[in-house]
Amino acid sequence: MANQEDLLKKIISHAKEYGFVFQSSEIYDGLSAVYDYAQNGSELKKNIRDYWWKAMVQMHNNIVGIDSAIFMHPKVWKASGHVDAFNDPMIDNKDSKKRYRADVLVEDFMAKIEGKIDKEVAKAKKRFGDSFDEQQFRETNPRVLANIEKIEGIKNRLYPAMDNDDMEGIKNLIEDLGIACPISGSKNWTEVRQFNLMFSTQMGSTAEGASEIYLRPETAQGIFVNYLNVQKTGRMKIPFGIAQTGKAFRNEIVARQFIFRMREFEQMEMQFFVRPGEEMKWFEYWKETRMKWHTSMGIPAEKFRFHDHDKLAHYANAAADIEFEFPMGFKELEGIHSRTDFDLSAHEELSGKKLRYHDPEINESYVPYVVETSIGLDRMFLAVLSFAYTEEKLEDGNERVVMKLPHVLAPYKVAVFPLVKKDGLPEKADEILNGLKSDYMCFYEEKDSIGKRYRRHDALGTPYCVTVDHQTLEDNTVTIRERDSMTQERVSIEDISGIIAGRLRG
Ligand code: GAP
Repeated sequence: MANQEDLLKKIISHAKEYGFVFQSSEIYDGLSAVYDYAQNGSELKKNIRDYWWKAMVQMHNNIVGIDSAIFMHPKVWKASGHVDAFNDPMIDNKDSKKRYRADVLVEDFMAKIEGKIDKEVAKAKKRFGDSFDEQQFRETNPRVLANIEKIEGIKNRLYPAMDNDDMEGIKNLIEDLGIACPISGSKNWTEVRQFNLMFSTQMGSTAEGASEIYLRPETAQGIFVNYLNVQKTGRMKIPFGIAQTGKAFRNEIVARQFIFRMREFEQMEMQFFVRPGEEMKWFEYWKETRMKWHTSMGIPAEKFRFHDHDKLAHYANAAADIEFEFPMGFKELEGIHSRTDFDLSAHEELSGKKLRYHDPEINESYVPYVVETSIGLDRMFLAVLSFAYTEEKLEDGNERVVMKLPHVLAPYKVAVFPLVKKDGLPEKADEILNGLKSDYMCFYEEKDSIGKRYRRHDALGTPYCVTVDHQTLEDNTVTIRERDSMTQERVSIEDISGIIAGRLRG
């Protein structure tokens, strides 16, 4: 675990040193859980967003994109349930003064018991070798069974308490389990209180005329309230989807782990409108389709797994997360939710406007059901950095840090270097750069030795470095170096573009 924590620290300092991510307002000692994307980070982030948009909108005839406002009518959040139910139960430790999400303390406790079960299974696997039947072991081993029962017992108390806003019940559970504060080690807890995660502000110029409005905690509601406008103007037929990317804001109780949990973040969401009764088919379809998207970039499949929800959000009848193995373990990266007709029906009721769809195939009008896919762009950014960050020992004894970013996501696709700053080489390099830059993000660099320039671009994740030397002036060939293999090849200038493009097609 210590190594994994070190890895997160290394990623954070690499992200700062190489211009990917900075702490917001750093000169004022930063603002908690708010970050700025720097010159290379904003390119990487844009590329992830574009890759998502291409897969979801460009590649689907029946999905269109919108860009709705962050501010919305306050009634939107009443209808969606966020005013009443977008709460987390919080608890403070009186000795360390640290604040926790009460349900997360209990979930972490259950995860420790899960860990004990996994250890028991691993031990038995080692003992019995090939003849080991894991399922049978899990179903019969007394210690495993006792731990499973313990977890079930905890769930049977936690989830009803959460559903019924029973704060005392959660506090009693924490006390009965003997959960201690990880910082102080004490069990000296405050009461558990509900905490609404929405940020609010005033709209209007005078105090009397101003009304309280919220910064959206999810982009999805901008899609719901525009659903009929888009359906009509786009002449969309069910099933169809509406996608958007944009900022969301949550006053998270515990915001930590770099850009994993932020108070201002970006979501990439798609609401897929379907015929009632067909939602489970589409739920499965989107689970599979989204998992394929994740692995399509070349990140190994073992880095991802599904986690089906036991406890469903107030709007869902089925939900699964795609989890990624971050440096701090497997954690939620994306959610796929079957949201039923909850949102559209609630907006119909509160707005008094009909949000029905007339289905010509069955000649019926209904409120569509919705399956949504919702991924945090910043979390995807962290997943990509965690996968790409590689420390390598080289054959010559040197070390390098290389960001093995999928080519399609790399901030720069190619860096062009003149070998020396004279003899017409910078001019030739500039000419090559001008030939490439309308198609690719390119970087020009003439400072330092070629070796140092290679290292710098390894650290930025640039897939190709092109070096212009004296031979280039004679025969129009250059050296092209590939980032991961570090192999160098002499190619003709006119072949560079094709080489880069070859790896970008996917
Ligand atoms: N519209 C559904 C929705 O918002 P969610 O599970 O609350 O569902 C979806 O959020 C995704 O948004 C998460 O899987 C995560 O990737 C991202 N996300 C949520 N809260 C976040 C936060 N505080 N910081 C960064 N990303 C966050």
